[in-house]
Amino acid sequence: INDCYTLNNGIKIPCIGFGTYKAAEGNNIQILKTAIEAGYRYFDTASFYGTEDYLGEAVRQSGLPREEFFLVSKMWKEEMGYDRTKKAFEETLQRLQTDYLDMYLIHWPRPEASCSEWKQLDLDTWRAMEELCQEGRIKAIGLSNFLPQHLENILAHCKIKPAAVQLELHPGYMQEAGVRYCEEKGILLQAWSPIGRQRVLNEPLLVELAQKYQVSPAQICLRFLVQRGIVPLPKSSSMERMKQNMEVFGFDISTEDMYRIATMPQAGWSGEHPDPEVAQKINKRKIGE
Ligand code: A2P
Repeated sequence: INDCYTLNNGIKIPCIGFGTYKAAEGNNIQILKTAIEAGYRYFDTASFYGTEDYLGEAVRQSGLPREEFFLVSKMWKEEMGYDRTKKAFEETLQRLQTDYLDMYLIHWPRPEASCSEWKQLDLDTWRAMEELCQEGRIKAIGLSNFLPQHLENILAHCKIKPAAVQLELHPGYMQEAGVRYCEEKGILLQAWSPIGRQRVLNEPLLVELAQKYQVSPAQICLRFLVQRGIVPLPKSSSMERMKQNMEVFGFDISTEDMYRIATMPQAGWSGEHPDPEVAQKINKRKIGE
Protein backbone atom coordinates (compact mmCIF):
# COMPACT_ATOMS: atom_id res chain seq x y z
CA ILE A 1 0.00 0.00 0.00
CA ASN A 2 2.95 2.27 0.50
CA ASP A 3 4.09 1.55 -3.04
CA CYS A 4 3.87 4.53 -5.31
CA TYR A 5 3.99 5.53 -8.95
CA THR A 6 5.80 8.65 -10.08
CA LEU A 7 3.62 11.02 -12.10
CA ASN A 8 4.93 12.79 -15.20
CA ASN A 9 5.71 15.85 -13.04
CA GLY A 10 7.82 13.89 -10.53
CA ILE A 11 5.15 13.72 -7.80
CA LYS A 12 4.61 10.35 -6.11
CA ILE A 13 1.12 8.83 -5.97
CA PRO A 14 0.07 5.67 -4.06
CA CYS A 15 -0.82 2.64 -6.22
CA ILE A 16 -4.33 2.32 -4.77
CA GLY A 17 -6.84 4.82 -3.42
CA PHE A 18 -10.22 4.88 -1.70
CA GLY A 19 -13.30 6.17 -3.54
CA THR A 20 -15.57 8.31 -1.39
CA TYR A 21 -18.62 8.70 -3.66
CA LYS A 22 -21.69 7.86 -1.53
CA ALA A 23 -19.47 7.44 1.53
CA ALA A 24 -21.40 10.31 3.13
CA GLU A 25 -24.69 8.44 3.12
CA GLY A 26 -25.80 8.13 6.70
CA ASN A 27 -24.32 11.53 7.37
CA ASN A 28 -21.31 10.46 9.33
CA ILE A 29 -17.57 10.26 9.00
CA GLN A 30 -17.29 6.69 10.22
CA ILE A 31 -16.63 5.12 6.81
CA LEU A 32 -13.75 7.50 6.22
CA LYS A 33 -12.28 6.96 9.68
CA THR A 34 -12.51 3.21 9.10
CA ALA A 35 -10.77 3.53 5.73
CA ILE A 36 -7.90 5.44 7.33
CA GLU A 37 -7.73 2.76 10.01
CA ALA A 38 -7.69 0.07 7.32
CA GLY A 39 -4.60 1.77 5.90
CA TYR A 40 -5.84 3.95 3.01
CA ARG A 41 -4.00 7.24 2.61
CA TYR A 42 -5.06 8.19 -0.91
CA PHE A 43 -8.66 9.47 -0.96
CA ASP A 44 -10.63 10.45 -4.02
CA THR A 45 -13.39 12.98 -3.37
CA ALA A 46 -15.23 15.74 -5.29
CA SER A 47 -17.30 18.79 -4.43
CA PHE A 48 -20.24 16.93 -5.99
CA TYR A 49 -19.92 13.95 -3.63
CA GLY A 50 -20.60 15.93 -0.47
CA THR A 51 -17.82 13.99 1.25
CA GLU A 52 -15.08 16.63 1.39
CA ASP A 53 -15.99 17.90 4.85
CA TYR A 54 -16.31 14.38 6.29
CA LEU A 55 -12.96 13.47 4.78
CA GLY A 56 -11.33 16.63 6.16
CA GLU A 57 -12.70 15.84 9.60
CA ALA A 58 -11.62 12.17 9.44
CA VAL A 59 -8.11 13.21 8.42
CA ARG A 60 -7.95 15.74 11.25
CA GLN A 61 -9.22 13.24 13.81
CA SER A 62 -6.69 10.63 12.68
CA GLY A 63 -3.96 12.81 14.16
CA LEU A 64 -1.71 11.79 11.25
CA PRO A 65 0.27 14.50 9.49
CA ARG A 66 -1.39 15.93 6.37
CA GLU A 67 1.66 14.96 4.26
CA GLU A 68 0.87 11.29 4.87
CA PHE A 69 -2.29 11.67 2.81
CA PHE A 70 -2.83 12.00 -0.91
CA LEU A 71 -6.04 13.99 -1.30
CA VAL A 72 -7.72 14.31 -4.69
CA SER A 73 -10.79 16.43 -5.39
CA LYS A 74 -12.72 17.65 -8.44
CA MET A 75 -14.70 20.74 -9.35
CA TRP A 76 -18.25 20.18 -10.54
CA LYS A 77 -19.60 21.32 -13.92
CA GLU A 78 -21.03 24.61 -12.60
CA GLU A 79 -17.69 25.38 -10.97
CA MET A 80 -15.81 25.40 -14.27
CA GLY A 81 -14.36 28.57 -15.79
CA TYR A 82 -11.35 30.67 -14.74
CA ASP A 83 -12.82 32.62 -11.78
CA ARG A 84 -15.24 29.94 -10.64
CA THR A 85 -12.49 27.33 -10.51
CA LYS A 86 -10.38 29.51 -8.24
CA LYS A 87 -13.36 30.06 -5.94
CA ALA A 88 -14.37 26.38 -6.00
CA PHE A 89 -10.82 25.40 -5.13
CA GLU A 90 -10.80 27.63 -2.02
CA GLU A 91 -14.14 26.17 -0.91
CA THR A 92 -12.84 22.63 -1.39
CA LEU A 93 -9.75 23.43 0.70
CA GLN A 94 -11.94 24.83 3.47
CA ARG A 95 -14.15 21.76 3.55
CA LEU A 96 -11.08 19.52 3.60
CA GLN A 97 -9.46 21.65 6.34
CA THR A 98 -6.23 21.83 4.38
CA ASP A 99 -4.12 24.41 2.56
CA TYR A 100 -3.18 22.32 -0.46
CA LEU A 101 -4.47 19.49 -2.65
CA ASP A 102 -2.37 16.62 -3.92
CA MET A 103 -4.44 16.53 -7.07
CA TYR A 104 -7.31 18.51 -8.56
CA LEU A 105 -9.39 17.24 -11.48
CA ILE A 106 -12.07 18.60 -13.79
CA HIS A 107 -14.92 16.25 -12.89
CA TRP A 108 -16.71 15.87 -16.25
CA PRO A 109 -16.49 17.27 -19.76
CA ARG A 110 -19.53 19.31 -20.90
CA PRO A 111 -21.01 17.45 -23.86
CA GLU A 112 -24.20 19.55 -23.69
CA ALA A 113 -22.27 22.69 -24.63
CA SER A 114 -21.40 23.52 -28.24
CA CYS A 115 -17.97 22.46 -29.40
CA SER A 116 -16.38 25.91 -29.22
CA GLU A 117 -18.04 26.55 -25.83
CA TRP A 118 -16.79 23.43 -24.09
CA LYS A 119 -13.36 23.76 -25.62
CA GLN A 120 -12.97 27.29 -24.27
CA LEU A 121 -14.46 26.38 -20.89
CA ASP A 122 -12.03 23.49 -20.49
CA LEU A 123 -9.10 25.76 -21.38
CA ASP A 124 -10.17 28.56 -19.01
CA THR A 125 -10.61 26.04 -16.21
CA TRP A 126 -7.26 24.44 -16.99
CA ARG A 127 -5.49 27.82 -16.93
CA ALA A 128 -6.79 28.46 -13.40
CA MET A 129 -5.63 24.99 -12.34
CA GLU A 130 -2.20 25.59 -13.87
CA GLU A 131 -1.82 28.81 -11.91
CA LEU A 132 -2.80 27.10 -8.65
CA CYS A 133 -0.28 24.40 -9.48
CA GLN A 134 2.46 26.94 -10.16
CA GLU A 135 1.65 28.63 -6.83
CA GLY A 136 2.27 25.26 -5.14
CA ARG A 137 -1.31 24.97 -3.91
CA ILE A 138 -1.96 21.83 -5.97
CA LYS A 139 0.74 19.22 -6.54
CA ALA A 140 -0.72 17.76 -9.72
CA ILE A 141 -3.66 18.42 -12.05
CA GLY A 142 -5.71 16.13 -14.22
CA LEU A 143 -9.08 15.26 -15.70
CA SER A 144 -11.94 12.92 -14.97
CA ASN A 145 -14.17 11.22 -17.55
CA PHE A 146 -12.34 13.00 -20.38
CA LEU A 147 -12.09 11.03 -23.63
CA PRO A 148 -9.39 11.47 -26.28
CA GLN A 149 -11.22 14.29 -28.08
CA HIS A 150 -11.44 16.30 -24.84
CA LEU A 151 -7.85 15.52 -23.92
CA GLU A 152 -6.58 16.61 -27.34
CA ASN A 153 -7.96 20.10 -26.76
CA ILE A 154 -6.16 20.39 -23.41
CA LEU A 155 -2.90 18.88 -24.69
CA ALA A 156 -2.85 21.22 -27.68
CA HIS A 157 -2.99 24.35 -25.48
CA CYS A 158 -1.71 23.51 -22.01
CA LYS A 159 1.38 24.83 -20.26
CA ILE A 160 1.20 21.99 -17.73
CA LYS A 161 0.42 18.56 -19.12
CA PRO A 162 -2.28 16.54 -17.31
CA ALA A 163 -0.68 14.15 -14.81
CA ALA A 164 -3.65 11.79 -14.55
CA VAL A 165 -6.99 10.90 -16.09
CA GLN A 166 -9.73 9.17 -14.14
CA LEU A 167 -12.15 6.93 -16.03
CA GLU A 168 -14.68 4.25 -15.19
CA LEU A 169 -12.60 1.12 -15.79
CA HIS A 170 -13.08 -2.51 -14.81
CA PRO A 171 -12.95 -5.91 -16.51
CA GLY A 172 -15.67 -5.82 -19.14
CA TYR A 173 -15.45 -2.04 -19.46
CA MET A 174 -11.89 -1.11 -20.32
CA GLN A 175 -12.46 1.90 -22.62
CA GLU A 176 -9.53 0.80 -24.79
CA ALA A 177 -9.28 4.00 -26.85
CA GLY A 178 -9.11 6.24 -23.79
CA VAL A 179 -6.67 3.96 -21.97
CA ARG A 180 -4.37 3.65 -24.96
CA TYR A 181 -4.39 7.40 -25.56
CA CYS A 182 -3.33 8.15 -21.96
CA GLU A 183 -0.68 5.43 -21.94
CA GLU A 184 0.83 6.86 -25.11
CA LYS A 185 0.92 10.36 -23.63
CA GLY A 186 2.46 9.28 -20.32
CA ILE A 187 -0.69 10.15 -18.35
CA LEU A 188 -1.46 7.92 -15.34
CA LEU A 189 -4.91 6.32 -15.30
CA GLN A 190 -7.15 6.05 -12.26
CA ALA A 191 -10.15 3.69 -12.28
CA TRP A 192 -13.46 4.58 -10.67
CA SER A 193 -15.85 1.69 -9.97
CA PRO A 194 -12.96 -0.75 -10.42
CA ILE A 195 -15.15 -3.70 -9.44
CA GLY A 196 -18.00 -2.50 -11.63
CA ARG A 197 -20.33 -1.79 -8.69
CA GLN A 198 -20.36 -5.55 -8.05
CA ARG A 199 -21.96 -6.21 -11.43
CA VAL A 200 -19.03 -8.20 -12.83
CA LEU A 201 -18.30 -10.28 -9.74
CA ASN A 202 -20.34 -13.24 -11.03
CA GLU A 203 -18.63 -13.33 -14.43
CA PRO A 204 -17.60 -16.98 -14.90
CA LEU A 205 -14.05 -16.04 -15.91
CA LEU A 206 -13.52 -13.88 -12.82
CA VAL A 207 -15.01 -16.56 -10.56
CA GLU A 208 -12.74 -19.18 -12.17
CA LEU A 209 -9.63 -17.01 -11.74
CA ALA A 210 -10.58 -16.14 -8.17
CA GLN A 211 -10.54 -19.87 -7.38
CA LYS A 212 -7.28 -20.40 -9.23
CA TYR A 213 -5.45 -17.58 -7.41
CA GLN A 214 -7.24 -18.17 -4.07
CA VAL A 215 -8.60 -14.63 -3.89
CA SER A 216 -12.03 -13.02 -4.46
CA PRO A 217 -13.40 -11.92 -7.86
CA ALA A 218 -13.11 -8.32 -6.60
CA GLN A 219 -9.40 -8.87 -5.98
CA ILE A 220 -9.01 -10.23 -9.52
CA CYS A 221 -10.58 -7.01 -10.86
CA LEU A 222 -8.30 -4.84 -8.75
CA ARG A 223 -5.13 -6.86 -9.44
CA PHE A 224 -5.88 -6.78 -13.18
CA LEU A 225 -5.93 -2.98 -13.07
CA VAL A 226 -2.80 -2.80 -10.91
CA GLN A 227 -0.94 -4.98 -13.43
CA ARG A 228 -2.08 -2.68 -16.22
CA GLY A 229 -0.49 0.20 -14.30
CA ILE A 230 -3.92 1.69 -13.51
CA VAL A 231 -4.71 3.01 -10.00
CA PRO A 232 -7.95 1.44 -8.69
CA LEU A 233 -10.21 3.54 -6.46
CA PRO A 234 -12.50 0.96 -4.81
CA LYS A 235 -15.29 1.98 -2.46
CA SER A 236 -16.57 -0.01 0.47
CA SER A 237 -18.42 0.52 3.71
CA SER A 238 -16.97 -2.52 5.48
CA MET A 239 -13.58 -2.75 7.16
CA GLU A 240 -13.20 -6.33 5.98
CA ARG A 241 -13.71 -5.49 2.29
CA MET A 242 -11.66 -2.30 2.59
CA LYS A 243 -8.74 -4.45 3.75
CA GLN A 244 -9.41 -7.16 1.19
CA ASN A 245 -9.32 -4.56 -1.58
CA MET A 246 -5.82 -3.48 -0.54
CA GLU A 247 -4.53 -7.03 -0.49
CA VAL A 248 -3.78 -7.14 -4.20
CA PHE A 249 0.00 -6.78 -4.15
CA GLY A 250 0.89 -10.31 -3.01
CA PHE A 251 0.05 -12.30 -6.15
CA ASP A 252 0.55 -12.08 -9.92
CA ILE A 253 -2.00 -12.82 -12.62
CA SER A 254 -0.25 -14.68 -15.46
CA THR A 255 0.11 -12.98 -18.83
CA GLU A 256 -2.26 -15.53 -20.34
CA ASP A 257 -4.94 -14.84 -17.73
CA MET A 258 -4.42 -11.07 -18.10
CA TYR A 259 -5.15 -11.53 -21.79
CA ARG A 260 -8.31 -13.51 -21.04
CA ILE A 261 -9.60 -10.74 -18.76
CA ALA A 262 -8.61 -8.04 -21.26
CA THR A 263 -10.56 -9.78 -24.02
CA MET A 264 -13.74 -10.35 -22.01
CA PRO A 265 -16.83 -9.05 -23.85
CA GLN A 266 -17.01 -5.30 -23.32
CA ALA A 267 -20.13 -3.44 -22.21
CA GLY A 268 -21.09 -0.84 -24.79
CA TRP A 269 -18.97 -2.73 -27.28
CA SER A 270 -18.63 -0.65 -30.42
CA GLY A 271 -17.29 -3.28 -32.81
CA GLU A 272 -13.68 -2.43 -32.11
CA HIS A 273 -11.78 -5.47 -30.87
CA PRO A 274 -9.56 -5.02 -27.86
CA ASP A 275 -5.99 -4.49 -28.95
CA PRO A 276 -4.65 -7.93 -30.02
CA GLU A 277 -1.26 -6.94 -28.63
CA VAL A 278 -2.71 -6.23 -25.23
CA ALA A 279 -0.90 -9.21 -23.72
CA GLN A 280 2.41 -7.62 -24.62
CA LYS A 281 1.43 -4.29 -23.17
CA ILE A 282 0.59 -5.54 -19.72
CA ASN A 283 3.06 -5.46 -16.91
CA LYS A 284 4.70 -2.62 -18.80
CA ARG A 285 4.54 -0.16 -15.97
CA LYS A 286 6.23 -1.41 -12.85
CA ILE A 287 5.41 -0.11 -9.41
CA GLY A 288 7.93 2.53 -8.41
CA GLU A 289 8.57 3.71 -11.97
P1 A2P B 1 -19.87 -2.62 0.46
O1 A2P B 1 -19.89 -1.16 0.84
O2 A2P B 1 -20.93 -3.41 1.11
O3 A2P B 1 -18.48 -3.22 0.58
P2 A2P B 1 -17.28 0.13 -7.06
O4 A2P B 1 -16.11 0.60 -6.25
O5 A2P B 1 -16.87 -0.68 -8.27
O6 A2P B 1 -18.21 1.26 -7.46
O7 A2P B 1 -18.15 -0.88 -6.17
C1 A2P B 1 -18.65 -0.49 -4.93
C2 A2P B 1 -19.57 -1.57 -4.40
O8 A2P B 1 -18.87 -2.80 -4.32
C3 A2P B 1 -20.12 -1.28 -3.07
O9 A2P B 1 -21.49 -1.63 -3.13
C4 A2P B 1 -19.39 -2.22 -2.12
O10 A2P B 1 -20.26 -2.67 -1.11
C5 A2P B 1 -19.00 -3.35 -2.99
N1 A2P B 1 -17.68 -3.94 -2.65
C6 A2P B 1 -16.54 -3.29 -2.32
N2 A2P B 1 -15.53 -4.15 -2.15
C7 A2P B 1 -16.02 -5.39 -2.37
C8 A2P B 1 -15.46 -6.69 -2.34
N3 A2P B 1 -14.18 -6.90 -2.04
N4 A2P B 1 -16.29 -7.74 -2.63
C9 A2P B 1 -17.58 -7.55 -2.93
N5 A2P B 1 -18.17 -6.35 -2.96
C10 A2P B 1 -17.41 -5.26 -2.69
